[in-house]
Amino acid sequence: MISIGIIGGSGYTGGEILRILLNHEKVEIKAVTSREYAGEPIFRAHPHLRKITDMKFIEPDLEKIASLCDIVFLAVPHGTAAPMVKRLLEAGIRVIDLSADFRLKNKEDYVKWYGWEHPCPELLELAVFGLPEFHRDEIRNAKLVANPGCIATASILSITPIVKAGFVEYDRIVLDAKIGSSGAGTSVSEATHHPEHSNLVRAYKPVMHRHTPEIEQEVSLKSGSKITVALTPHAIDMVRGILVTGHMFLKKEITMQEIWKVYREMYQNEPFVRIVRDHKGLHRLPDPMNVIGSNFCDVGFEIDAHANRIVTFGALDNLMKGAAGQAVQNLNIMIGVDERMGIGLTGVRPV
Ligand SMILES: NC(=O)c1ccc[n+]([C@@H]2O[C@H](COP(=O)([O-])OP(=O)(O)OC[C@H]3O[C@@H](n4cnc5c(N)ncnc54)[C@H](OP(=O)(O)O)[C@@H]3O)[C@@H](O)[C@H]2O)c1
Repeated sequence: MISIGIIGGSGYTGGEILRILLNHEKVEIKAVTSREYAGEPIFRAHPHLRKITDMKFIEPDLEKIASLCDIVFLAVPHGTAAPMVKRLLEAGIRVIDLSADFRLKNKEDYVKWYGWEHPCPELLELAVFGLPEFHRDEIRNAKLVANPGCIATASILSITPIVKAGFVEYDRIVLDAKIGSSGAGTSVSEATHHPEHSNLVRAYKPVMHRHTPEIEQEVSLKSGSKITVALTPHAIDMVRGILVTGHMFLKKEITMQEIWKVYREMYQNEPFVRIVRDHKGLHRLPDPMNVIGSNFCDVGFEIDAHANRIVTFGALDNLMKGAAGQAVQNLNIMIGVDERMGIGLTGVRPV
Protein backbone atom coordinates (compact mmCIF):
# COMPACT_ATOMS: atom_id res chain seq x y z
CA MET A 1 0.00 0.00 0.00
CA ILE A 2 1.16 3.53 -0.78
CA SER A 3 0.93 6.02 2.10
CA ILE A 4 -0.76 9.27 1.17
CA GLY A 5 -0.94 12.74 2.72
CA ILE A 6 -3.33 15.54 1.76
CA ILE A 7 -2.33 19.08 2.68
CA GLY A 8 -5.35 21.34 2.37
CA GLY A 9 -7.72 18.47 3.09
CA SER A 10 -10.66 20.62 4.22
CA GLY A 11 -11.12 22.42 0.89
CA TYR A 12 -13.25 21.33 -2.04
CA THR A 13 -10.46 19.65 -4.00
CA GLY A 14 -9.01 18.08 -0.83
CA GLY A 15 -12.47 16.69 -0.02
CA GLU A 16 -12.78 15.25 -3.49
CA ILE A 17 -9.35 13.57 -3.25
CA LEU A 18 -10.51 12.06 0.06
CA ARG A 19 -13.82 10.85 -1.42
CA ILE A 20 -11.92 9.06 -4.20
CA LEU A 21 -8.98 7.69 -2.19
CA LEU A 22 -11.10 6.33 0.67
CA ASN A 23 -12.34 3.84 -1.95
CA HIS A 24 -8.97 3.21 -3.62
CA GLU A 25 -7.50 -0.30 -3.41
CA LYS A 26 -3.81 0.56 -3.40
CA VAL A 27 -3.43 3.52 -1.07
CA GLU A 28 -3.83 4.31 2.58
CA ILE A 29 -4.42 7.86 3.74
CA LYS A 30 -2.06 8.69 6.61
CA ALA A 31 -2.41 12.45 7.07
CA VAL A 32 -5.04 15.07 6.17
CA THR A 33 -4.40 18.66 7.17
CA SER A 34 -6.46 21.70 8.06
CA ARG A 35 -5.45 24.52 10.38
CA GLU A 36 -9.07 25.47 10.97
CA TYR A 37 -10.29 21.91 11.67
CA ALA A 38 -7.16 20.40 13.30
CA GLY A 39 -8.24 17.80 15.87
CA GLU A 40 -11.74 17.58 14.40
CA PRO A 41 -13.15 14.61 12.47
CA ILE A 42 -13.03 14.70 8.67
CA PHE A 43 -16.84 14.80 8.48
CA ARG A 44 -16.88 18.21 10.16
CA ALA A 45 -15.65 19.74 6.88
CA HIS A 46 -16.96 16.97 4.62
CA PRO A 47 -20.33 15.80 5.95
CA HIS A 48 -20.77 13.36 3.04
CA LEU A 49 -17.82 11.35 4.45
CA ARG A 50 -19.47 10.64 7.82
CA LYS A 51 -19.14 6.94 8.69
CA ILE A 52 -16.72 6.48 5.79
CA THR A 53 -13.63 7.36 7.84
CA ASP A 54 -12.92 8.10 11.49
CA MET A 55 -9.74 10.04 10.72
CA LYS A 56 -9.16 13.52 12.12
CA PHE A 57 -7.54 16.57 10.56
CA ILE A 58 -4.03 17.42 11.73
CA GLU A 59 -1.96 20.62 11.50
CA PRO A 60 0.15 20.96 8.34
CA ASP A 61 3.38 19.83 10.02
CA LEU A 62 5.60 18.97 7.04
CA GLU A 63 8.19 16.93 8.99
CA LYS A 64 5.48 14.75 10.47
CA ILE A 65 3.73 14.33 7.13
CA ALA A 66 7.03 13.46 5.41
CA SER A 67 7.69 10.79 8.04
CA LEU A 68 4.28 9.18 7.43
CA CYS A 69 3.79 9.41 3.66
CA ASP A 70 5.23 8.31 0.31
CA ILE A 71 3.23 10.73 -1.84
CA VAL A 72 1.61 14.00 -0.79
CA PHE A 73 -1.18 15.94 -2.52
CA LEU A 74 -1.08 19.68 -2.05
CA ALA A 75 -4.53 21.26 -2.34
CA VAL A 76 -3.68 24.72 -1.00
CA PRO A 77 -3.91 28.19 -2.61
CA HIS A 78 -1.33 29.13 -5.23
CA GLY A 79 1.68 30.90 -3.77
CA THR A 80 1.28 28.83 -0.60
CA ALA A 81 2.28 25.54 -2.23
CA ALA A 82 5.76 26.35 -3.60
CA PRO A 83 7.74 26.50 -0.31
CA MET A 84 5.94 23.37 0.96
CA VAL A 85 6.74 21.50 -2.25
CA LYS A 86 10.42 22.39 -1.91
CA ARG A 87 10.59 21.04 1.64
CA LEU A 88 8.70 17.84 0.80
CA LEU A 89 10.96 17.14 -2.19
CA GLU A 90 14.02 17.68 0.03
CA ALA A 91 12.58 15.06 2.38
CA GLY A 92 12.34 12.61 -0.53
CA ILE A 93 8.55 12.74 -0.89
CA ARG A 94 6.83 12.67 -4.29
CA VAL A 95 4.36 15.51 -4.69
CA ILE A 96 1.20 16.15 -6.70
CA ASP A 97 0.52 19.87 -6.51
CA LEU A 98 -2.98 21.03 -7.46
CA SER A 99 -2.03 24.71 -7.32
CA ALA A 100 -0.59 26.72 -10.20
CA ASP A 101 2.85 27.04 -8.61
CA PHE A 102 4.72 24.64 -10.90
CA ARG A 103 2.60 24.53 -14.05
CA LEU A 104 4.55 27.14 -16.01
CA LYS A 105 8.04 26.47 -17.33
CA ASN A 106 9.07 30.11 -17.74
CA LYS A 107 9.66 31.83 -14.40
CA GLU A 108 8.93 35.24 -16.01
CA ASP A 109 5.36 34.06 -16.61
CA TYR A 110 4.82 34.03 -12.83
CA VAL A 111 5.72 37.72 -12.72
CA LYS A 112 3.54 38.54 -15.72
CA TRP A 113 0.45 36.46 -14.88
CA TYR A 114 0.59 36.00 -11.08
CA GLY A 115 2.42 39.16 -10.03
CA TRP A 116 5.12 37.42 -7.97
CA GLU A 117 8.69 36.19 -8.35
CA HIS A 118 8.81 32.40 -8.14
CA PRO A 119 10.51 31.41 -4.86
CA CYS A 120 12.10 28.22 -6.29
CA PRO A 121 12.44 28.60 -10.09
CA GLU A 122 15.05 25.82 -10.14
CA LEU A 123 12.20 23.33 -9.58
CA LEU A 124 10.15 24.43 -12.61
CA GLU A 125 12.09 22.15 -14.97
CA LEU A 126 11.70 19.19 -12.61
CA ALA A 127 7.93 19.55 -12.53
CA VAL A 128 5.89 17.51 -15.01
CA PHE A 129 2.67 19.09 -16.27
CA GLY A 130 0.10 16.59 -15.04
CA LEU A 131 -2.04 16.11 -18.12
CA PRO A 132 -1.81 12.32 -18.69
CA GLU A 133 -3.03 12.54 -22.28
CA PHE A 134 0.11 14.54 -23.17
CA HIS A 135 2.73 13.60 -20.55
CA ARG A 136 1.98 10.04 -19.43
CA ASP A 137 5.55 8.74 -19.79
CA GLU A 138 7.09 11.63 -17.83
CA ILE A 139 4.45 11.36 -15.08
CA ARG A 140 5.38 7.71 -14.42
CA ASN A 141 8.66 8.61 -12.73
CA ALA A 142 7.94 12.20 -11.76
CA LYS A 143 8.97 13.52 -8.37
CA LEU A 144 6.75 16.56 -8.79
CA VAL A 145 3.53 16.66 -10.80
CA ALA A 146 1.94 20.05 -11.45
CA ASN A 147 -1.75 19.27 -11.82
CA PRO A 148 -3.29 21.45 -14.56
CA GLY A 149 -5.92 24.13 -14.01
CA CYS A 150 -9.56 23.25 -14.56
CA ILE A 151 -10.34 25.70 -17.37
CA ALA A 152 -6.92 24.88 -18.83
CA THR A 153 -7.65 21.14 -18.97
CA ALA A 154 -10.98 21.62 -20.79
CA SER A 155 -9.36 24.14 -23.15
CA ILE A 156 -6.21 22.16 -23.96
CA LEU A 157 -7.99 18.87 -24.55
CA SER A 158 -10.71 20.41 -26.73
CA ILE A 159 -8.60 22.57 -29.07
CA THR A 160 -5.27 20.75 -29.46
CA PRO A 161 -6.26 18.20 -32.17
CA ILE A 162 -7.46 21.00 -34.47
CA VAL A 163 -4.43 23.21 -33.80
CA LYS A 164 -1.95 20.36 -34.20
CA ALA A 165 -3.49 19.44 -37.55
CA GLY A 166 -2.72 22.97 -38.77
CA PHE A 167 -6.33 23.66 -39.78
CA VAL A 168 -6.63 27.04 -38.02
CA GLU A 169 -4.87 30.38 -37.56
CA TYR A 170 -2.54 30.18 -34.56
CA ASP A 171 -2.93 33.77 -33.36
CA ARG A 172 -6.75 34.00 -33.31
CA ILE A 173 -7.91 31.36 -30.84
CA VAL A 174 -10.77 32.66 -28.71
CA LEU A 175 -11.89 30.67 -25.67
CA ASP A 176 -15.11 31.43 -23.82
CA ALA A 177 -15.41 29.55 -20.53
CA LYS A 178 -18.38 29.05 -18.18
CA ILE A 179 -17.61 27.83 -14.67
CA GLY A 180 -19.53 26.90 -11.53
CA SER A 181 -18.98 28.39 -8.08
CA SER A 182 -16.94 25.51 -6.59
CA GLY A 183 -14.10 26.64 -8.84
CA ALA A 184 -13.48 29.43 -6.34
CA GLY A 185 -12.91 27.04 -3.41
CA THR A 186 -14.46 27.20 0.04
CA SER A 187 -13.50 30.76 0.90
CA VAL A 188 -16.46 33.12 1.02
CA SER A 189 -16.55 36.40 -0.88
CA GLU A 190 -19.05 38.98 -2.12
CA ALA A 191 -18.93 37.29 -5.54
CA THR A 192 -20.07 33.94 -4.11
CA HIS A 193 -22.70 35.41 -1.73
CA HIS A 194 -26.00 33.75 -2.71
CA PRO A 195 -27.91 36.84 -3.93
CA GLU A 196 -24.88 37.87 -5.98
CA HIS A 197 -24.28 34.40 -7.43
CA SER A 198 -27.78 33.10 -8.01
CA ASN A 199 -29.05 33.43 -11.61
CA LEU A 200 -25.81 35.00 -12.76
CA VAL A 201 -23.80 34.95 -15.98
CA ARG A 202 -20.88 37.20 -15.14
CA ALA A 203 -17.55 37.68 -16.90
CA TYR A 204 -15.08 37.82 -14.03
CA LYS A 205 -11.67 38.08 -15.65
CA PRO A 206 -12.36 39.26 -19.19
CA VAL A 207 -8.69 39.49 -20.15
CA MET A 208 -5.38 38.13 -18.78
CA HIS A 209 -6.90 35.12 -16.99
CA ARG A 210 -4.16 33.10 -15.29
CA HIS A 211 -4.91 29.87 -17.13
CA THR A 212 -3.94 31.53 -20.44
CA PRO A 213 -0.17 30.84 -20.22
CA GLU A 214 -0.58 27.16 -19.35
CA ILE A 215 -2.97 26.67 -22.27
CA GLU A 216 -0.52 28.43 -24.62
CA GLN A 217 2.43 26.48 -23.21
CA GLU A 218 0.86 23.05 -23.58
CA VAL A 219 -0.97 23.49 -26.90
CA SER A 220 2.16 25.05 -28.44
CA LEU A 221 4.30 22.19 -27.16
CA LYS A 222 1.98 19.47 -28.42
CA SER A 223 1.22 21.09 -31.77
CA GLY A 224 4.73 22.32 -32.48
CA SER A 225 3.38 25.80 -33.30
CA LYS A 226 3.40 28.84 -31.06
CA ILE A 227 -0.19 29.89 -30.39
CA THR A 228 -1.88 32.88 -28.79
CA VAL A 229 -5.06 32.43 -26.82
CA ALA A 230 -7.73 35.01 -25.90
CA LEU A 231 -9.61 33.62 -22.90
CA THR A 232 -12.66 35.05 -21.11
CA PRO A 233 -14.29 33.05 -18.29
CA HIS A 234 -17.79 33.59 -16.92
CA ALA A 235 -19.16 32.58 -13.55
CA ILE A 236 -22.54 30.94 -14.01
CA ASP A 237 -25.23 29.62 -11.73
CA MET A 238 -24.06 26.06 -11.17
CA VAL A 239 -21.93 24.50 -8.43
CA ARG A 240 -19.72 22.13 -10.41
CA GLY A 241 -18.81 22.10 -14.06
CA ILE A 242 -17.01 23.90 -16.86
CA LEU A 243 -17.82 24.36 -20.51
CA VAL A 244 -15.15 25.93 -22.72
CA THR A 245 -16.28 27.03 -26.19
CA GLY A 246 -13.40 27.64 -28.60
CA HIS A 247 -13.64 29.82 -31.70
CA MET A 248 -10.92 29.32 -34.30
CA PHE A 249 -10.61 30.48 -37.89
CA LEU A 250 -9.90 28.10 -40.73
CA LYS A 251 -6.87 28.46 -42.97
CA LYS A 252 -8.48 26.28 -45.65
CA GLU A 253 -11.69 24.41 -46.24
CA ILE A 254 -11.93 21.14 -44.32
CA THR A 255 -14.45 18.35 -44.03
CA MET A 256 -16.11 16.91 -40.96
CA GLN A 257 -14.34 13.59 -41.69
CA GLU A 258 -10.95 15.29 -41.42
CA ILE A 259 -11.87 16.75 -38.04
CA TRP A 260 -13.13 13.41 -36.73
CA LYS A 261 -9.88 11.82 -37.85
CA VAL A 262 -7.60 14.16 -35.88
CA TYR A 263 -9.70 13.85 -32.71
CA ARG A 264 -9.83 10.07 -33.01
CA GLU A 265 -6.09 9.87 -33.57
CA MET A 266 -5.41 11.81 -30.40
CA TYR A 267 -8.03 10.36 -28.08
CA GLN A 268 -9.21 6.93 -29.23
CA ASN A 269 -7.16 5.13 -26.57
CA GLU A 270 -7.70 7.70 -23.81
CA PRO A 271 -9.86 6.38 -20.96
CA PHE A 272 -11.10 9.81 -19.87
CA VAL A 273 -11.64 11.76 -23.08
CA ARG A 274 -14.88 11.19 -24.99
CA ILE A 275 -15.63 12.66 -28.39
CA VAL A 276 -19.21 13.90 -28.30
CA ARG A 277 -20.70 14.99 -31.60
CA ASP A 278 -23.96 13.28 -32.33
CA HIS A 279 -26.37 14.04 -35.15
CA LYS A 280 -29.58 13.90 -33.15
CA GLY A 281 -31.04 14.28 -29.69
CA LEU A 282 -30.54 16.88 -27.00
CA HIS A 283 -27.02 15.79 -26.05
CA ARG A 284 -25.28 16.25 -29.39
CA LEU A 285 -22.35 18.17 -27.94
CA PRO A 286 -20.41 18.26 -24.65
CA ASP A 287 -22.38 19.47 -21.66
CA PRO A 288 -21.05 19.68 -18.07
CA MET A 289 -24.30 18.05 -16.93
CA ASN A 290 -23.11 14.74 -18.38
CA VAL A 291 -19.72 14.65 -16.64
CA ILE A 292 -20.50 15.90 -13.12
CA GLY A 293 -18.94 13.56 -10.54
CA SER A 294 -16.88 11.75 -13.19
CA ASN A 295 -13.33 12.10 -14.46
CA PHE A 296 -14.38 12.50 -18.09
CA CYS A 297 -13.60 15.43 -20.31
CA ASP A 298 -16.06 15.47 -23.21
CA VAL A 299 -14.83 17.20 -26.36
CA GLY A 300 -16.76 18.14 -29.50
CA PHE A 301 -16.71 20.39 -32.57
CA GLU A 302 -18.74 21.99 -35.35
CA ILE A 303 -17.80 23.66 -38.64
CA ASP A 304 -19.25 27.10 -39.34
CA ALA A 305 -18.84 27.44 -43.11
CA HIS A 306 -20.63 30.79 -43.11
CA ALA A 307 -18.01 32.47 -40.88
CA ASN A 308 -15.05 30.28 -41.89
CA ARG A 309 -14.89 29.18 -38.27
CA ILE A 310 -14.53 26.02 -36.31
CA VAL A 311 -16.21 25.85 -32.91
CA THR A 312 -14.94 23.43 -30.26
CA PHE A 313 -16.38 22.38 -26.92
CA GLY A 314 -14.77 20.94 -23.79
CA ALA A 315 -16.83 19.96 -20.74
CA LEU A 316 -15.61 18.60 -17.41
CA ASP A 317 -16.24 18.62 -13.67
CA ASN A 318 -13.79 21.20 -12.31
CA LEU A 319 -13.30 19.19 -9.10
CA MET A 320 -12.73 15.90 -10.96
CA LYS A 321 -10.93 15.99 -14.34
CA GLY A 322 -10.29 19.67 -13.52
CA ALA A 323 -8.56 18.89 -10.19
CA ALA A 324 -8.88 15.88 -7.84
CA GLY A 325 -9.85 13.22 -10.40
CA GLN A 326 -6.97 14.17 -12.64
CA ALA A 327 -4.65 14.26 -9.60
CA VAL A 328 -5.63 10.66 -8.78
CA GLN A 329 -5.21 9.70 -12.44
CA ASN A 330 -1.64 11.04 -12.10
CA LEU A 331 -1.17 9.14 -8.83
CA ASN A 332 -2.24 5.90 -10.52
CA ILE A 333 0.30 6.44 -13.28
CA MET A 334 3.02 7.26 -10.72
CA ILE A 335 2.41 4.07 -8.72
CA GLY A 336 1.95 1.86 -11.77
CA VAL A 337 -1.65 0.72 -11.33
CA ASP A 338 -4.63 0.89 -13.71
CA GLU A 339 -5.08 4.56 -14.51
CA ARG A 340 -8.82 4.26 -13.84
CA MET A 341 -8.49 2.91 -10.30
CA GLY A 342 -10.88 4.79 -7.98
CA ILE A 343 -12.06 7.15 -10.74
CA GLY A 344 -13.75 4.79 -13.16
CA LEU A 345 -17.34 5.59 -12.21
CA THR A 346 -19.64 7.65 -14.39
CA GLY A 347 -21.22 10.77 -12.99
CA VAL A 348 -24.74 10.99 -11.65
CA ARG A 349 -27.78 11.82 -13.73
CA PRO A 350 -29.81 13.93 -13.46
CA VAL A 351 -27.81 16.47 -11.47
N1 LIG B 1 -11.74 24.46 -6.88
C1 LIG B 1 -11.40 24.05 -8.10
O1 LIG B 1 -12.26 23.78 -8.96
C2 LIG B 1 -9.94 23.89 -8.45
C3 LIG B 1 -9.65 23.32 -9.69
C4 LIG B 1 -8.29 23.15 -10.04
C5 LIG B 1 -7.30 23.57 -9.19
N2 LIG B 1 -7.63 24.14 -8.00
C6 LIG B 1 -6.54 24.57 -7.12
O2 LIG B 1 -6.46 23.65 -6.03
C7 LIG B 1 -6.03 24.34 -4.85
C8 LIG B 1 -7.07 24.11 -3.77
O3 LIG B 1 -8.32 24.62 -4.25
P1 LIG B 1 -9.67 24.46 -3.41
O4 LIG B 1 -10.76 24.93 -4.32
O5 LIG B 1 -9.75 23.12 -2.81
O6 LIG B 1 -9.42 25.54 -2.27
P2 LIG B 1 -10.19 25.69 -0.85
O7 LIG B 1 -11.51 25.02 -0.91
O8 LIG B 1 -10.14 27.14 -0.53
O9 LIG B 1 -9.26 24.89 0.16
C9 LIG B 1 -7.97 25.33 0.48
C10 LIG B 1 -7.35 24.39 1.51
O10 LIG B 1 -6.02 24.82 1.77
C11 LIG B 1 -5.84 24.97 3.20
N3 LIG B 1 -4.91 26.10 3.36
C12 LIG B 1 -5.10 27.39 3.00
N4 LIG B 1 -4.01 28.12 3.27
C13 LIG B 1 -3.11 27.29 3.82
C14 LIG B 1 -1.78 27.44 4.33
N5 LIG B 1 -1.18 28.65 4.32
N6 LIG B 1 -1.16 26.37 4.85
C15 LIG B 1 -1.75 25.14 4.88
N7 LIG B 1 -3.02 24.93 4.42
C16 LIG B 1 -3.68 25.99 3.89
C17 LIG B 1 -7.24 25.20 3.74
O11 LIG B 1 -7.39 24.70 5.05
P3 LIG B 1 -7.00 25.49 6.40
O12 LIG B 1 -7.07 26.96 6.05
O13 LIG B 1 -8.00 25.05 7.41
O14 LIG B 1 -5.60 25.03 6.71
C18 LIG B 1 -8.08 24.32 2.82
O15 LIG B 1 -8.04 22.98 3.29
C19 LIG B 1 -5.86 25.80 -5.24
O16 LIG B 1 -4.52 26.07 -5.55
C20 LIG B 1 -6.73 25.92 -6.48
O17 LIG B 1 -6.33 26.95 -7.35
C21 LIG B 1 -8.93 24.30 -7.60
